[in-house]
Amino acid sequence: MSLFSKPKNDNGDHAMIHLRDVHKYYKTAIGDYHALNSIDLEIEAGEFVSIIGKSGSGKSTLLNMITGIDRPTSGEVFVNGTGVHTMGENKMARWRGKNLGIVFQFFQLLPTISVIENIMLPMDFCRTYPMRQREKRALELLEMVELADHAYKLPTALSGGQQQRIAIARALANDPPVIIADEPTGNLDSKTAESVFALFNDLVAKGKTIIIVTHDSGLAKRTHRTALIADGEIVNEYVARAMPTLTQDQMLWATRNAKEQTFEAGTMIFTEGSSADTFYIVSRGTVDVVLPRPGQSDVIALQLGPGKFFGEMAYFHDRRRRASIRASEHSTVEVLALSYDQLTELLDQSEVTREALQQIAAKNELVNAQKRGTS
Ligand SMILES: Nc1ncnc2c1ncn2[C@@H]1O[C@H](COP(=O)(O)OP(=O)(O)O)[C@@H](O)[C@H]1O
Ligand SMILES: [Mg+2]
Repeated sequence: MSLFSKPKNDNGDHAMIHLRDVHKYYKTAIGDYHALNSIDLEIEAGEFVSIIGKSGSGKSTLLNMITGIDRPTSGEVFVNGTGVHTMGENKMARWRGKNLGIVFQFFQLLPTISVIENIMLPMDFCRTYPMRQREKRALELLEMVELADHAYKLPTALSGGQQQRIAIARALANDPPVIIADEPTGNLDSKTAESVFALFNDLVAKGKTIIIVTHDSGLAKRTHRTALIADGEIVNEYVARAMPTLTQDQMLWATRNAKEQTFEAGTMIFTEGSSADTFYIVSRGTVDVVLPRPGQSDVIALQLGPGKFFGEMAYFHDRRRRASIRASEHSTVEVLALSYDQLTELLDQSEVTREALQQIAAKNELVNAQKRGTS
């Protein structure tokens, strides 16, 4: 018997996790507090996603919407094809036990029962495996986290890192497709944190979908994708990638103000020499930077993919396009457009970002000049 089933994608073309326009208000003594503001998030089966953001930005609240520990005030949450926001309390606990493995910062193992009993508990609760198989499975999970020798000890006899690995084994007890971990390394030293992170990596390789909240931007960079939350809103990841030197508030401002535009494959977005008033960030597909040459064929200087931008050269020059930009032949392109006035507002607040953009514009001038000269 293998420890994990092959993850089956029975969601059709739907994402494993999908939040649609989720809002969460908390009632407080001084009125409603808007903890999540119009969250849209899609996570595909097999993705490893990190969520980062300052303390109090809404990370745990967001996870609670996914696990059904708390409910959105409005909006929809689907996990593995099930509408979590509509589920009753009775159904919820067993559904959660089968579909989600949850890992907390402070482990939350039961202190009065042994390690192996902690791991068997979810199987007992959901009756997922025949009774006589449960102990064997628990032992195998403990072997996977390299703690089989400690199976019959109390959790409190073990170190923090060991307890977290046990918590991960417990999260896997019912072979759920999704693992949700709220600052799982927040209470561990960096070496122990590394071993816990390595365990998550192995699980992703085995097909699990994993979301971790982390304060460690180094760890976050090693996941497939990072969602940055500021003041209960998700910062557009391409804005963050294009202009990493902006503050979180500035990124959020850009996210709110940027207009999404779509271009069919092969269409011209702008042509060299035309007047310029917009800066673009690529969010899907690629664009070609095309250099027309008198009496010769056009040359493609380079291709720009998600997180790259264009339109910065004319901004620093005389507001005339310095090259043509075309959606690449085989890809529909999505971009985020900021007017030059908006870009100015942003760069006036972030001198480092202005310098970074200026440097890239200067470098691109050189590349283009060189490409125009060669055939
Ligand atoms: N049950 C609650 N009642 C009122 N306010 C809450 C509650 N839970 C969280 N908050 C507030 O919502 C905001 C987001 O909290 P949280 O999601 O825990 O942030 P994070 O996990 O990013 O640190 C914070 O300002 C917090 O004080
Ligand atoms: Mg939190």
